Amino acid sequence: MSVPLDLAAVEAHARSLGASLPGGSVVWLEGPMGAGKTTFARALLAGRGVTEPGASPSYAIVHHHAGPRGDAYHLDCWRLRAPDEAADLDWETLLAADLLLIEWPERAGAYAPVPTHRLQLIPVDADHRRVVGG
Ligand SMILES: Nc1ncnc2c1ncn2[C@@H]1O[C@H](COP(=O)(O)OP(=O)(O)OP(=O)(O)O)[C@@H](O)[C@H]1O
Ligand SMILES: [Mg+2]
Repeated sequence: MSVPLDLAAVEAHARSLGASLPGGSVVWLEGPMGAGKTTFARALLAGRGVTEPGASPSYAIVHHHAGPRGDAYHLDCWRLRAPDEAADLDWETLLAADLLLIEWPERAGAYAPVPTHRLQLIPVDADHRRVVGG
């Protein structure tokens, strides 16, 4: 069982993962509401070398980030009202990117692409999370 990590430790883990993932990685970020999936995604992108957030509004499903290794996309499937809405996403572009992070992949149902990495954030208490998978 993984050890409980505080926020700084989770972010450090996410940054180092971002730096080391091979190009073309598809990362699922799972965990209950408020577990820290978006926080993890942002730290992972920072570790990838993405400095500027994309121009997309906060409510968008797809967030694009231009990084030194290519395009990175952060998909927040919570925003899908039904899995079928995922059919409208440009999967060809998303899967050709350097990195695709998918938050709430279960909300995309069968449209969620097979992950190369699957991480679960499990709340332990207000200040600690377990990170399972990698
Ligand atoms: N590893 C952590 N340890 C402690 N607190 C954290 C951790 N990660 C995030 N938080 C805090 O938890 C709150 C929710 O974080 P975040 O928005 O990243 O979660 P989420 O899983 O993306 O939520 P949602 O289910 O709404 O998408 C924020 O206030 C954040 O600062
Ligand atoms: Mg989130």
